[in-house]
Amino acid sequence: MSENAIELRGLEKTYAATKKMSAKKALDGINLDIPRGSIFGLLGPNGAGKSTLINILAGLVQKSSGTVNVWGFDQDKNPRQSRAAIGVMPQELNLDPFFTPGASLDMQAGLYGVPKRQRKTSEILRLIGLEDKANAYARSLSGGMRRRLLLGKALVHSPQILVLDEPTAGVDIGLRQMLWDNIRQLNADGMTVILTTHYLEEAQEMCDRIAIIHEGKLRALDTTANLLSKLDTKTVVVQAQVSQKISLPDGVTLDYRPDGSLAFSYRHSITSPNLILDALRSANAHIEDIQTEQPNLQDVFLEITK
Ligand SMILES: Nc1ncnc2c1ncn2[C@@H]1O[C@H](COP(=O)(O)OP(=O)(O)OP(=O)(O)O)[C@@H](O)[C@H]1O
Ligand SMILES: [Mg+2]
Repeated sequence: MSENAIELRGLEKTYAATKKMSAKKALDGINLDIPRGSIFGLLGPNGAGKSTLINILAGLVQKSSGTVNVWGFDQDKNPRQSRAAIGVMPQELNLDPFFTPGASLDMQAGLYGVPKRQRKTSEILRLIGLEDKANAYARSLSGGMRRRLLLGKALVHSPQILVLDEPTAGVDIGLRQMLWDNIRQLNADGMTVILTTHYLEEAQEMCDRIAIIHEGKLRALDTTANLLSKLDTKTVVVQAQVSQKISLPDGVTLDYRPDGSLAFSYRHSITSPNLILDALRSANAHIEDIQTEQPNLQDVFLEITK
């Protein structure tokens, strides 16, 4: 058995031309392995091809060429098994307003052929915090409750892989926290998680591996830590009384922040923060406070997609 949850080779997708739009190559030769047990982030700007990739995994969009292997099953040879290994929480709300959460989960389980006695409806309702809403009409649920119900629906057939397309778009902080707690718990219990998000802090905090796609091509693939360490620029922010001109060491730039602090940016591999402090001392600066800022995923992202 392969150690990967997902293996993509030469994956291409071209949407056919219509009267209004010319043909669009949305995925252009993606090779990608997603290890089992990971929380994997799929990032990229609008139109990069993220949803196309996810929808191909879920069997909702037909690929043009290449191979898709899900949990050891080739999608072309074993479509049923490869589909059963994945649960998808879609980006759009697609709930029947007249179904109750309990009935929705039951229906979904039925669609996946889960026998009645193996259904975990009440367990899932508890997980998504909708026990007390089990018998309320979906139309009476708040937007956040509906999103939680979508997560519940993705879980009814106990998939090995959970795929979340922008799970926290438009979701308040409390619910976001709860969703992430749920997702971390599912991952700790062995589920592989693949998600897309435009909240880069979220990806940085949650994901152990990240792929960045841009214009249908894979542009970066690494552990989150490695991606971040590739960025060499650091910043020292100093609050200081300075009356003399500071002569900057080579390769250091100085910005004045709106709050009056001095932001020194430097390349970690070339300059030591010591040189910056020396320069401040030489200018007889009276230092009141010092902070350092690490590069974040947004910097990596902009660097790659610019
Ligand atoms: N059904 C479709 N028919 C034609 N073109 C499509 C279709 N779906 C997506 N596309 C095009 O394919 C490209 C990739 O779209 P996709 O939805 O995969 O991007 P995305 O990375 O999910 O973007 P976003 O961050 O905005 O959700 C875009 O140029 C889009 O216009
Ligand atoms: Mg999308």
